Amino acid sequence: MVNIREVAADTVWIGASDRRIELFENLFPLENGVSYNSYVIRDGKTALLDTADISVADQFMENLGAVLDGRKLDYLVVLHMEPDHCSQIRTVAALHPELTLVGNAKTFTMLGQFFPETASLPRIEVKEGDTLSLGKHTLHFVMAPMVHWPEAMFAYDDATKTLFSADAFGTFGAVDAGIFADEVDFERKYLDEARRYYANIVGKYGMQVQAVLKKAATLDIQTICPLHGPVWRNNLSWFIEKYDRWSRVEPEDDEVVLIYGSLYGHTAGAAACVARKIEEKSGRRVRVFDVSKTHSSVLVGEIWKSGTVVLASPTYNNGIYLPMHALIHDLIALGLKNRRFALIENGTWAPVAARLMREELSALKDCTVIEETLTIRSALHAADESRADAFAEAVI
Ligand code: FEO
Repeated sequence: MVNIREVAADTVWIGASDRRIELFENLFPLENGVSYNSYVIRDGKTALLDTADISVADQFMENLGAVLDGRKLDYLVVLHMEPDHCSQIRTVAALHPELTLVGNAKTFTMLGQFFPETASLPRIEVKEGDTLSLGKHTLHFVMAPMVHWPEAMFAYDDATKTLFSADAFGTFGAVDAGIFADEVDFERKYLDEARRYYANIVGKYGMQVQAVLKKAATLDIQTICPLHGPVWRNNLSWFIEKYDRWSRVEPEDDEVVLIYGSLYGHTAGAAACVARKIEEKSGRRVRVFDVSKTHSSVLVGEIWKSGTVVLASPTYNNGIYLPMHALIHDLIALGLKNRRFALIENGTWAPVAARLMREELSALKDCTVIEETLTIRSALHAADESRADAFAEAVI
């Protein structure tokens, strides 16, 4: 069944959601699926902006046929070559042999790598500032390298003041009947997932996101059409401010996130005690997570939100508890900065986890690890109350 929606004048969303997918990029768990957005502009010429993932190919192709309604497809504009958006290029090209591909030099290098059989198709190679006229609508191309691949680019339609933003401003989560962000409770339904998507998928490239946000700030944007999640037509500044903050790797709030690893519950008990003390002493909310039970992408999202991070790790094989070690590695890989850390360690005979975590965390830019460390010998007891209090006071 055709499922399309006009999102601006002559501009139609023809995407689809996959709610059966377990793991995005075969890495990130998706509780609520993901949408693969694609758009068609129907003007004197017709243009398709990106295709879709193979999982929604049938719906996407049905939507494309309906929106073209017998017209030929003049252009396929490729804003991003990651396969969740480019998988249908070969199929679309086969069905519409008259089309011209539009991309930049890097797009066409990748296109040749994924689909060598497209080499003979007509193509227009664009660069920063180039335009493509469709009639009333003219697309202006804005290069967005590393947001999130090197060939990524935005297209800005000056007729509708619509920014086609590739992966930027996207989020995990399927779209329901309401394709616009203002038709759903975005803050409740999507915000945590948008942050998780940003931090884990694009977070490493904050400087590049900042660069393209500066370019976008020169445009009069009334609608943002990302490749994942809802379309924005209202309150754009609220979401742009989130993106600005996330890409500067600045925390959103002064809450504390406490992440613990625990083999038998003793470190978990100490973590709960410390969390309560921090809340009681400071009034700051403490969000507590078990590193073994919560996917690291969720923890990364939580850390991206918060200014203070408490890590509690058992000593394991004379090292850091493995899932905690993996989380720290992830934070380093993603370029986390501007955070304050505090460390709790447990060790029944030779606690070393705090020293090792401190050494690892020193790789993070503009982060501090407070001097005060809470060392637990097997379990925290009433006799340790004053040490736990001193640690909680040092954290706040
Ligand atoms: Fe949604 Fe970088 O692809």
